[in-house]
Amino acid sequence: MAIDFNAKENRHTYLGRDAQQEWYDIIHSLTEPKGKDIADIGCGGGIYSRAWANLGAKSVTCVDFSDQMLADAAENTQELKNITLKKGNALHTGLPANSQDIIFERALIHHISEEDRVICFGEANRLLRSGGMYILQDRTVQDINLPGSPEHIRGYIFEVYPHLRDFENQRRPDTDNVINGFKEVGFRHVNTLSFLEKRTTYNNFSQLANDFRLRKGRSILHELSDKEIAYLIDYIENSLPSLTNIVENDYWTIWTGIK
Ligand SMILES: C[S@@+](CC[C@H](N)C(=O)[O-])C[C@H]1O[C@@H](n2cnc3c(N)ncnc32)[C@H](O)[C@@H]1O
Repeated sequence: MAIDFNAKENRHTYLGRDAQQEWYDIIHSLTEPKGKDIADIGCGGGIYSRAWANLGAKSVTCVDFSDQMLADAAENTQELKNITLKKGNALHTGLPANSQDIIFERALIHHISEEDRVICFGEANRLLRSGGMYILQDRTVQDINLPGSPEHIRGYIFEVYPHLRDFENQRRPDTDNVINGFKEVGFRHVNTLSFLEKRTTYNNFSQLANDFRLRKGRSILHELSDKEIAYLIDYIENSLPSLTNIVENDYWTIWTGIK
């Protein structure tokens, strides 16, 4: 069953880790966030909203349609002064037009139907000032289908449960469709890049197991029963060459466009 972002039991699903250096580096290669007004749409628990604040943003507006996710983001960003939380839908956020320098959307559009994605891109365009940058980060079908390995632990999920590939293939964006959607709503200089983002380092296997058991940050695991997850955890444990200092990486695609 698809993840319910409003359910109390999914509290802290997108919380409990920090953006890693690889992510900061890639953002720095794209833009200078210092002094900018930034909206993090589909912010979840605000992991990346914090990161934008760390990068020197003038303001970060965290938008999400889920009260539970916004409560998590509030908890995660409580000491930061330049953060505003706003309940809103990525298709019509309610934020003023021409108010932002950067719109960031990570792991959002695979939760939005293919027909609605162009509305989402249009909303990002409406919010940006002229010259502002849209940064969309998500996993494509190609990113998802990379095999399981100690460097790509997520790949083991599909090795054990191949039927989940169909579920993923249906919701994951296609690179060219996104590029065309960006152009359709008026973005210029549309670019795409692939990158390997370090998600986190687990000191020991039980930390990784706990993350999977709680289905943290991986909505695909909501398609599995507790028993199936337990089997998957055993499989991963037997596949990894070392059960300490486990680095988990994920393959991502980033699309950028300029208004
Ligand atoms: C997979 S989580 C990603 C959270 C965060 N961006 C991150 O990368 O850690 C997707 C988030 O998008 C939100 N979301 C999904 N569809 C949305 C929509 N149409 N409008 C606003 N938020 C949405 C969910 O509530 C959830 O918090």
